[in-house]
Amino acid sequence: MSAGFRCLQCKELFEVIYPSWELDGEGDGSQRPNAPALRALWAERRLSAAILNQSGVWRFRELLPFLDDPERAVTLREGNTPLYAMPQCAQRVGLDSLHAKHQGMNPTGSFKDTGMTAALSVAHEKKFPWVACASTGNTSAAMAAYAARAGMRALVLIPDGKVAWGKLAQSVDYGALTCQLKTDFDGCVRVLAEIVERAPVYLLNSVNPYRLEGQKTPALEIAEQMGWQVPDHIIVPGGNLANGAALGKGFHEMRALGLTDRIPRISVIQAEGANPLYTSLLKYNGERLEPVQANTRATAIRIGNPASWRKTARAIQETGGYCEQVSEQEIAIAKAEIGAEGIGCEPASAVTYAGLKKLCAQGKVRREESVVLVLTGHTLKDPEYTIDFHRGTLLTETETAALNASEKESLRKLAKPPVLLEPSSDAVLRQLEATERK
Ligand code: F0G
Repeated sequence: MSAGFRCLQCKELFEVIYPSWELDGEGDGSQRPNAPALRALWAERRLSAAILNQSGVWRFRELLPFLDDPERAVTLREGNTPLYAMPQCAQRVGLDSLHAKHQGMNPTGSFKDTGMTAALSVAHEKKFPWVACASTGNTSAAMAAYAARAGMRALVLIPDGKVAWGKLAQSVDYGALTCQLKTDFDGCVRVLAEIVERAPVYLLNSVNPYRLEGQKTPALEIAEQMGWQVPDHIIVPGGNLANGAALGKGFHEMRALGLTDRIPRISVIQAEGANPLYTSLLKYNGERLEPVQANTRATAIRIGNPASWRKTARAIQETGGYCEQVSEQEIAIAKAEIGAEGIGCEPASAVTYAGLKKLCAQGKVRREESVVLVLTGHTLKDPEYTIDFHRGTLLTETETAALNASEKESLRKLAKPPVLLEPSSDAVLRQLEATERK
Protein backbone atom coordinates (compact mmCIF):
# COMPACT_ATOMS: atom_id res chain seq x y z
CA MET A 1 0.00 0.00 0.00
CA SER A 2 1.29 3.50 -0.71
CA ALA A 3 1.19 6.22 1.95
CA GLY A 4 -1.14 8.11 -0.38
CA PHE A 5 -3.85 5.39 -0.19
CA ARG A 6 -3.75 4.63 -3.90
CA CYS A 7 -3.23 1.22 -5.45
CA LEU A 8 0.31 1.12 -6.81
CA GLN A 9 -0.89 -0.76 -9.91
CA CYS A 10 -4.11 0.91 -11.04
CA LYS A 11 -3.59 4.22 -9.13
CA GLU A 12 -7.19 4.15 -7.91
CA LEU A 13 -8.20 4.98 -4.33
CA PHE A 14 -8.80 2.22 -1.80
CA GLU A 15 -12.17 1.40 -0.35
CA VAL A 16 -12.89 -0.51 2.87
CA ILE A 17 -14.92 -3.69 2.33
CA TYR A 18 -16.01 -6.33 4.84
CA PRO A 19 -15.82 -9.74 3.15
CA SER A 20 -17.32 -11.55 6.17
CA TRP A 21 -20.63 -9.73 5.62
CA GLU A 22 -20.90 -11.53 2.28
CA LEU A 23 -22.93 -8.71 0.81
CA ASP A 24 -22.64 -10.12 -2.70
CA GLY A 25 -24.52 -13.27 -1.74
CA GLU A 26 -21.46 -15.49 -1.49
CA GLY A 27 -21.02 -17.90 1.44
CA ASP A 28 -23.61 -18.64 4.09
CA GLY A 29 -23.74 -15.10 5.46
CA SER A 30 -23.16 -16.39 9.00
CA GLN A 31 -21.04 -13.34 9.88
CA ARG A 32 -23.55 -10.92 8.47
CA PRO A 33 -24.95 -8.47 11.05
CA ASN A 34 -28.62 -9.12 11.84
CA ALA A 35 -30.75 -6.10 10.88
CA PRO A 36 -33.56 -6.17 13.51
CA ALA A 37 -31.06 -6.91 16.30
CA LEU A 38 -28.86 -4.03 15.17
CA ARG A 39 -31.72 -1.53 15.07
CA ALA A 40 -32.71 -2.49 18.62
CA LEU A 41 -29.12 -2.36 19.88
CA TRP A 42 -28.47 1.04 18.31
CA ALA A 43 -31.70 2.43 19.78
CA GLU A 44 -30.81 1.07 23.22
CA ARG A 45 -27.39 2.71 23.08
CA ARG A 46 -29.03 6.12 22.82
CA LEU A 47 -29.95 5.75 26.50
CA SER A 48 -26.45 4.70 27.53
CA ALA A 49 -23.99 6.94 29.37
CA ALA A 50 -20.98 5.04 27.98
CA ILE A 51 -18.77 7.42 26.00
CA LEU A 52 -18.67 5.27 22.89
CA ASN A 53 -22.46 4.97 22.82
CA GLN A 54 -22.81 8.73 23.01
CA SER A 55 -21.01 9.09 19.70
CA GLY A 56 -23.32 9.09 16.68
CA VAL A 57 -20.53 7.33 14.79
CA TRP A 58 -19.42 4.62 17.24
CA ARG A 59 -22.99 3.87 18.27
CA PHE A 60 -23.04 2.10 14.88
CA ARG A 61 -19.70 0.35 15.47
CA GLU A 62 -20.91 -3.03 14.14
CA LEU A 63 -20.71 -1.40 10.68
CA LEU A 64 -17.24 0.04 11.42
CA PRO A 65 -15.30 -3.09 12.40
CA PHE A 66 -11.77 -1.90 11.62
CA LEU A 67 -10.25 -0.96 14.99
CA ASP A 68 -8.47 -3.61 17.05
CA ASP A 69 -9.91 -2.02 20.18
CA PRO A 70 -13.00 0.15 19.50
CA GLU A 71 -13.06 1.15 23.18
CA ARG A 72 -9.97 3.26 22.46
CA ALA A 73 -11.58 5.26 19.64
CA VAL A 74 -10.84 8.99 19.80
CA THR A 75 -14.22 10.66 20.07
CA LEU A 76 -15.67 14.10 20.74
CA ARG A 77 -19.26 12.67 20.77
CA GLU A 78 -19.66 13.50 17.07
CA GLY A 79 -22.74 12.71 15.04
CA ASN A 80 -26.27 12.57 16.48
CA THR A 81 -27.01 15.66 14.42
CA PRO A 82 -30.54 16.99 13.90
CA LEU A 83 -32.73 16.43 10.88
CA TYR A 84 -34.65 19.69 10.56
CA ALA A 85 -37.86 20.27 8.61
CA MET A 86 -37.45 23.20 6.19
CA PRO A 87 -41.05 24.31 5.55
CA GLN A 88 -40.32 27.75 4.04
CA CYS A 89 -37.69 26.43 1.67
CA ALA A 90 -39.98 23.52 0.75
CA GLN A 91 -42.83 25.85 -0.10
CA ARG A 92 -40.60 28.07 -2.21
CA VAL A 93 -39.56 25.18 -4.46
CA GLY A 94 -42.98 23.48 -4.36
CA LEU A 95 -42.11 20.34 -2.36
CA ASP A 96 -44.32 18.64 0.23
CA SER A 97 -41.36 17.58 2.37
CA LEU A 98 -37.85 18.99 2.66
CA HIS A 99 -35.39 18.29 5.47
CA ALA A 100 -31.86 19.38 6.30
CA LYS A 101 -29.44 16.98 7.95
CA HIS A 102 -27.31 19.53 9.75
CA GLN A 103 -23.79 18.18 9.92
CA GLY A 104 -22.63 21.63 11.03
CA MET A 105 -23.95 20.63 14.47
CA ASN A 106 -20.93 18.38 15.01
CA PRO A 107 -18.33 19.22 17.70
CA THR A 108 -16.05 21.24 15.40
CA GLY A 109 -18.93 22.58 13.31
CA SER A 110 -18.70 20.44 10.19
CA PHE A 111 -19.39 16.97 8.80
CA LYS A 112 -15.67 16.23 8.87
CA ASP A 113 -15.86 15.07 12.49
CA THR A 114 -17.66 11.85 11.59
CA GLY A 115 -14.84 10.81 9.28
CA MET A 116 -12.10 12.20 11.49
CA THR A 117 -13.03 10.15 14.56
CA ALA A 118 -12.76 7.02 12.39
CA ALA A 119 -9.50 7.71 10.55
CA LEU A 120 -7.67 9.43 13.38
CA SER A 121 -8.51 6.48 15.66
CA VAL A 122 -6.71 4.24 13.13
CA ALA A 123 -3.67 6.57 13.16
CA HIS A 124 -3.70 6.52 16.96
CA GLU A 125 -3.93 2.73 17.08
CA LYS A 126 -1.03 2.43 14.63
CA LYS A 127 0.97 4.83 16.83
CA PHE A 128 1.84 7.40 14.18
CA PRO A 129 3.53 10.44 15.80
CA TRP A 130 2.07 12.92 13.31
CA VAL A 131 -1.19 13.25 11.38
CA ALA A 132 -1.47 15.63 8.44
CA CYS A 133 -3.95 17.05 5.96
CA ALA A 134 -4.28 19.60 3.18
CA SER A 135 -7.52 21.46 3.69
CA THR A 136 -9.85 24.26 2.75
CA GLY A 137 -10.37 24.67 6.50
CA ASN A 138 -12.87 22.17 7.91
CA THR A 139 -10.82 18.98 7.67
CA SER A 140 -7.95 20.83 9.35
CA ALA A 141 -10.21 22.09 12.16
CA ALA A 142 -11.51 18.58 12.78
CA MET A 143 -8.09 16.93 12.53
CA ALA A 144 -6.50 19.48 14.88
CA ALA A 145 -9.19 18.88 17.51
CA TYR A 146 -9.13 15.08 17.38
CA ALA A 147 -5.31 15.00 17.31
CA ALA A 148 -5.22 17.21 20.40
CA ARG A 149 -7.64 14.87 22.18
CA ALA A 150 -5.45 11.89 21.30
CA GLY A 151 -2.21 13.63 22.27
CA MET A 152 -0.93 13.43 18.69
CA ARG A 153 0.82 16.13 16.66
CA ALA A 154 -1.01 17.66 13.72
CA LEU A 155 0.36 19.22 10.52
CA VAL A 156 -2.09 21.40 8.59
CA LEU A 157 -1.49 22.71 5.06
CA ILE A 158 -3.98 25.35 3.98
CA PRO A 159 -4.05 27.86 1.14
CA ASP A 160 -2.83 31.32 2.10
CA GLY A 161 -6.02 33.43 2.25
CA LYS A 162 -9.31 31.83 1.08
CA VAL A 163 -9.77 29.97 4.37
CA ALA A 164 -12.64 31.27 6.51
CA TRP A 165 -11.53 32.82 9.81
CA GLY A 166 -13.54 30.46 12.00
CA LYS A 167 -11.71 27.48 10.52
CA LEU A 168 -8.21 28.98 10.72
CA ALA A 169 -8.92 29.99 14.31
CA GLN A 170 -9.87 26.42 15.21
CA SER A 171 -6.70 24.94 13.78
CA VAL A 172 -4.46 27.20 15.87
CA ASP A 173 -6.71 27.02 18.92
CA TYR A 174 -6.38 23.22 18.99
CA GLY A 175 -2.61 23.54 18.70
CA ALA A 176 -1.85 22.23 15.19
CA LEU A 177 1.26 23.25 13.27
CA THR A 178 -0.65 25.39 10.76
CA CYS A 179 1.17 26.18 7.51
CA GLN A 180 -0.41 28.65 5.13
CA LEU A 181 1.10 27.83 1.73
CA LYS A 182 1.23 30.40 -1.06
CA THR A 183 -0.94 28.27 -3.31
CA ASP A 184 -4.50 26.95 -3.50
CA PHE A 185 -5.96 23.72 -2.03
CA ASP A 186 -4.83 21.67 -5.03
CA GLY A 187 -1.27 22.97 -4.52
CA CYS A 188 -1.41 22.03 -0.82
CA VAL A 189 -2.44 18.47 -1.81
CA ARG A 190 0.58 18.23 -4.13
CA VAL A 191 3.00 19.32 -1.38
CA LEU A 192 1.47 16.92 1.14
CA ALA A 193 1.75 13.99 -1.28
CA GLU A 194 5.53 14.52 -1.23
CA ILE A 195 5.64 14.89 2.55
CA VAL A 196 3.89 11.56 3.23
CA GLU A 197 6.48 9.80 1.07
CA ARG A 198 9.33 11.44 3.00
CA ALA A 199 8.19 11.46 6.64
CA PRO A 200 6.22 9.15 8.99
CA VAL A 201 3.06 11.24 8.91
CA TYR A 202 -0.38 9.66 8.57
CA LEU A 203 -2.48 11.25 5.83
CA LEU A 204 -5.97 12.24 6.94
CA ASN A 205 -7.36 13.72 3.74
CA SER A 206 -10.48 12.02 2.43
CA VAL A 207 -8.38 9.76 0.18
CA ASN A 208 -7.95 7.89 3.47
CA PRO A 209 -10.68 5.21 3.15
CA TYR A 210 -11.42 5.16 6.91
CA ARG A 211 -12.61 8.77 6.63
CA LEU A 212 -15.39 7.56 4.35
CA GLU A 213 -16.34 4.83 6.82
CA GLY A 214 -17.09 7.47 9.44
CA GLN A 215 -18.77 9.69 6.88
CA LYS A 216 -21.19 6.94 5.90
CA THR A 217 -22.84 7.07 9.36
CA PRO A 218 -25.03 10.14 8.67
CA ALA A 219 -26.82 7.89 6.16
CA LEU A 220 -27.61 5.51 9.04
CA GLU A 221 -28.77 8.41 11.18
CA ILE A 222 -31.03 9.76 8.44
CA ALA A 223 -32.67 6.35 7.99
CA GLU A 224 -33.05 5.91 11.76
CA GLN A 225 -34.48 9.42 12.14
CA MET A 226 -37.04 8.62 9.43
CA GLY A 227 -38.13 5.38 11.12
CA TRP A 228 -35.87 3.23 8.89
CA GLN A 229 -37.45 4.70 5.79
CA VAL A 230 -35.16 6.18 3.19
CA PRO A 231 -35.81 9.59 1.58
CA ASP A 232 -36.19 9.73 -2.19
CA HIS A 233 -33.30 12.08 -2.70
CA ILE A 234 -30.15 13.22 -0.86
CA ILE A 235 -28.32 16.35 -2.02
CA VAL A 236 -24.72 17.12 -1.04
CA PRO A 237 -22.16 19.78 -1.98
CA GLY A 238 -19.22 18.61 -4.09
CA GLY A 239 -15.63 19.66 -3.35
CA ASN A 240 -12.97 16.98 -3.09
CA LEU A 241 -15.87 14.59 -3.76
CA ALA A 242 -15.63 12.07 -0.96
CA ASN A 243 -18.83 12.81 0.90
CA GLY A 244 -21.32 11.83 -1.81
CA ALA A 245 -19.48 8.51 -2.17
CA ALA A 246 -19.41 7.94 1.62
CA LEU A 247 -23.15 8.49 1.99
CA GLY A 248 -23.77 6.29 -1.05
CA LYS A 249 -21.74 3.52 0.62
CA GLY A 250 -23.76 3.90 3.80
CA PHE A 251 -27.09 3.61 1.98
CA HIS A 252 -25.81 0.72 -0.13
CA GLU A 253 -24.63 -1.26 2.91
CA MET A 254 -27.86 -0.61 4.80
CA ARG A 255 -29.92 -2.01 1.96
CA ALA A 256 -27.62 -5.00 1.46
CA LEU A 257 -27.88 -5.82 5.18
CA GLY A 258 -31.67 -5.54 5.12
CA LEU A 259 -31.79 -2.46 7.36
CA THR A 260 -33.62 -0.52 4.64
CA ASP A 261 -35.32 -1.51 1.42
CA ARG A 262 -33.98 1.01 -1.08
CA ILE A 263 -31.29 3.56 -1.90
CA PRO A 264 -32.03 7.26 -2.45
CA ARG A 265 -30.88 9.23 -5.47
CA ILE A 266 -27.62 10.98 -4.56
CA SER A 267 -27.11 14.34 -6.23
CA VAL A 268 -24.02 16.51 -5.98
CA ILE A 269 -23.94 20.27 -6.46
CA GLN A 270 -20.81 22.25 -7.33
CA ALA A 271 -20.07 25.95 -7.52
CA GLU A 272 -19.84 27.17 -11.14
CA GLY A 273 -16.28 28.34 -10.51
CA ALA A 274 -15.20 24.92 -9.17
CA ASN A 275 -17.16 22.50 -11.33
CA PRO A 276 -14.83 19.76 -12.64
CA LEU A 277 -17.27 16.92 -11.86
CA TYR A 278 -20.20 18.74 -13.46
CA THR A 279 -18.13 19.18 -16.62
CA SER A 280 -16.81 15.62 -16.50
CA LEU A 281 -20.30 14.13 -16.39
CA LEU A 282 -21.58 16.47 -19.09
CA LYS A 283 -18.67 16.06 -21.50
CA TYR A 284 -17.21 12.64 -20.74
CA ASN A 285 -20.02 10.74 -18.98
CA GLY A 286 -17.83 10.66 -15.86
CA GLU A 287 -15.08 8.67 -17.56
CA ARG A 288 -12.41 11.31 -17.26
CA LEU A 289 -11.92 14.56 -15.39
CA GLU A 290 -10.22 17.75 -16.51
CA PRO A 291 -8.96 19.78 -13.52
CA VAL A 292 -10.00 23.43 -13.43
CA GLN A 293 -8.53 26.55 -11.83
CA ALA A 294 -11.07 26.80 -9.01
CA ASN A 295 -12.61 30.03 -7.81
CA THR A 296 -15.65 30.54 -5.58
CA ARG A 297 -16.51 32.44 -2.40
CA ALA A 298 -17.70 29.08 -1.01
CA THR A 299 -14.07 28.48 -0.05
CA ALA A 300 -14.72 25.02 1.44
CA ILE A 301 -15.33 23.67 -2.08
CA ARG A 302 -12.76 25.79 -3.93
CA ILE A 303 -11.19 22.67 -5.45
CA GLY A 304 -10.19 22.16 -9.07
CA ASN A 305 -8.70 18.66 -9.03
CA PRO A 306 -10.86 16.53 -6.71
CA ALA A 307 -9.35 13.26 -5.47
CA SER A 308 -12.47 11.10 -5.12
CA TRP A 309 -14.26 12.11 -8.33
CA ARG A 310 -14.54 8.55 -9.65
CA LYS A 311 -16.18 7.28 -6.46
CA THR A 312 -18.71 10.10 -6.43
CA ALA A 313 -19.43 9.92 -10.17
CA ARG A 314 -20.25 6.24 -9.60
CA ALA A 315 -22.53 7.04 -6.64
CA ILE A 316 -24.45 9.57 -8.76
CA GLN A 317 -24.74 7.23 -11.74
CA GLU A 318 -25.66 4.12 -9.75
CA THR A 319 -28.38 5.89 -7.77
CA GLY A 320 -29.85 7.89 -10.67
CA GLY A 321 -28.82 11.19 -9.11
CA TYR A 322 -27.78 14.42 -10.79
CA CYS A 323 -24.85 16.80 -10.80
CA GLU A 324 -25.61 20.52 -11.07
CA GLN A 325 -23.64 23.72 -10.84
CA VAL A 326 -24.77 26.96 -9.23
CA SER A 327 -23.60 30.57 -9.51
CA GLU A 328 -22.19 32.80 -6.78
CA GLN A 329 -25.47 34.76 -6.72
CA GLU A 330 -27.52 31.57 -6.38
CA ILE A 331 -25.32 30.38 -3.49
CA ALA A 332 -25.63 33.72 -1.67
CA ILE A 333 -29.43 33.83 -1.94
CA ALA A 334 -29.84 30.15 -0.98
CA LYS A 335 -27.64 30.62 2.07
CA ALA A 336 -29.69 33.61 3.26
CA GLU A 337 -32.91 31.65 2.75
CA ILE A 338 -31.59 28.75 4.86
CA GLY A 339 -30.54 31.30 7.48
CA ALA A 340 -34.00 32.89 7.45
CA GLU A 341 -35.45 29.51 8.55
CA GLY A 342 -33.39 29.78 11.75
CA ILE A 343 -31.09 27.02 10.54
CA GLY A 344 -28.07 28.69 8.92
CA CYS A 345 -25.05 27.09 7.28
CA GLU A 346 -21.76 28.02 5.66
CA PRO A 347 -21.72 29.02 1.96
CA ALA A 348 -20.55 25.63 0.64
CA SER A 349 -23.52 23.91 2.31
CA ALA A 350 -25.98 26.31 0.68
CA VAL A 351 -25.16 24.99 -2.80
CA THR A 352 -27.45 22.06 -1.93
CA TYR A 353 -30.53 24.25 -1.72
CA ALA A 354 -29.46 26.36 -4.72
CA GLY A 355 -29.06 23.11 -6.69
CA LEU A 356 -32.41 21.78 -5.50
CA LYS A 357 -34.12 24.89 -6.87
CA LYS A 358 -32.62 24.12 -10.28
CA LEU A 359 -33.56 20.43 -10.14
CA CYS A 360 -37.15 21.34 -9.23
CA ALA A 361 -37.34 23.93 -12.02
CA GLN A 362 -36.10 21.30 -14.50
CA GLY A 363 -38.78 18.83 -13.31
CA LYS A 364 -36.14 16.39 -12.03
CA VAL A 365 -37.60 16.48 -8.51
CA ARG A 366 -41.38 16.12 -8.12
CA ARG A 367 -43.60 17.64 -5.42
CA GLU A 368 -44.23 14.36 -3.55
CA GLU A 369 -40.56 13.32 -3.36
CA SER A 370 -38.91 13.55 0.05
CA VAL A 371 -35.61 15.37 -0.14
CA VAL A 372 -32.81 15.75 2.41
CA LEU A 373 -30.18 18.47 2.01
CA VAL A 374 -26.91 17.68 3.76
CA LEU A 375 -25.75 20.94 5.36
CA THR A 376 -22.06 20.32 5.82
CA GLY A 377 -20.88 23.29 7.88
CA HIS A 378 -22.11 25.67 10.59
CA THR A 379 -22.97 29.29 9.78
CA LEU A 380 -20.36 30.52 12.32
CA LYS A 381 -17.54 29.03 10.24
CA ASP A 382 -17.63 32.00 7.87
CA PRO A 383 -19.35 35.01 9.49
CA GLU A 384 -17.57 37.46 7.17
CA TYR A 385 -19.48 36.11 4.16
CA THR A 386 -22.79 36.52 5.98
CA ILE A 387 -22.09 40.07 7.14
CA ASP A 388 -20.93 41.09 3.63
CA PHE A 389 -24.12 39.62 2.15
CA HIS A 390 -26.42 41.51 4.51
CA ARG A 391 -24.47 44.75 4.16
CA GLY A 392 -24.76 44.43 0.39
CA THR A 393 -21.00 44.25 -0.18
CA LEU A 394 -20.67 40.54 -1.05
CA LEU A 395 -21.57 40.54 -4.73
CA THR A 396 -19.75 42.67 -7.29
CA GLU A 397 -21.62 45.24 -9.40
CA THR A 398 -21.41 42.91 -12.39
CA GLU A 399 -22.84 40.02 -10.37
CA THR A 400 -25.67 42.18 -9.05
CA ALA A 401 -26.44 43.49 -12.54
CA ALA A 402 -26.76 39.90 -13.79
CA LEU A 403 -29.56 39.07 -11.31
CA ASN A 404 -33.06 38.56 -12.73
CA ALA A 405 -36.03 40.51 -11.31
CA SER A 406 -37.09 37.83 -8.83
CA GLU A 407 -33.52 37.37 -7.54
CA LYS A 408 -33.23 41.16 -7.08
CA GLU A 409 -36.46 41.08 -5.06
CA SER A 410 -35.14 38.14 -2.95
CA LEU A 411 -31.95 40.02 -2.28
CA ARG A 412 -33.87 43.12 -1.17
CA LYS A 413 -36.16 41.12 1.12
CA LEU A 414 -33.46 38.92 2.62
CA ALA A 415 -30.86 41.55 3.47
CA LYS A 416 -31.03 42.40 7.18
CA PRO A 417 -27.99 44.62 7.78
CA PRO A 418 -27.24 45.69 11.34
CA VAL A 419 -28.28 49.32 11.91
CA LEU A 420 -26.24 51.90 13.79
CA LEU A 421 -28.43 54.05 16.06
CA GLU A 422 -28.23 56.65 18.80
CA PRO A 423 -28.60 55.02 22.25
CA SER A 424 -32.24 56.05 22.81
CA SER A 425 -35.50 54.11 22.99
CA ASP A 426 -37.04 56.63 20.52
CA ALA A 427 -34.42 55.78 17.92
CA VAL A 428 -34.88 52.05 18.37
CA LEU A 429 -38.70 52.25 18.31
CA ARG A 430 -38.61 54.38 15.14
CA GLN A 431 -36.52 51.67 13.55
CA LEU A 432 -38.94 48.98 14.74
CA GLU A 433 -41.90 50.84 13.16
CA ALA A 434 -40.00 51.39 9.95
CA THR A 435 -39.23 47.66 9.80
CA GLU A 436 -42.91 46.75 10.40
CA ARG A 437 -43.97 49.02 7.50
CA LYS A 438 -41.53 47.29 5.12
N1 F0G B 1 -18.95 21.33 2.55
C1 F0G B 1 -18.01 21.76 3.42
C2 F0G B 1 -18.43 22.69 4.50
C3 F0G B 1 -16.67 21.32 3.28
O1 F0G B 1 -15.76 21.73 4.14
C4 F0G B 1 -16.34 20.45 2.22
C5 F0G B 1 -14.97 19.99 2.03
C6 F0G B 1 -17.37 20.05 1.36
C7 F0G B 1 -18.65 20.49 1.56
C8 F0G B 1 -17.11 19.11 0.23
O2 F0G B 1 -17.01 17.79 0.65
O3 F0G B 1 -14.79 17.35 -0.30
O4 F0G B 1 -16.24 15.47 0.42
O5 F0G B 1 -16.82 16.82 -1.60
N2 F0G B 1 -13.98 20.42 2.68
C9 F0G B 1 -12.62 19.86 2.63
C10 F0G B 1 -11.76 20.47 3.71
C11 F0G B 1 -12.04 19.85 1.29
O6 F0G B 1 -10.53 20.51 3.56
O7 F0G B 1 -12.29 20.91 4.73
P1 F0G B 1 -16.17 16.78 -0.27
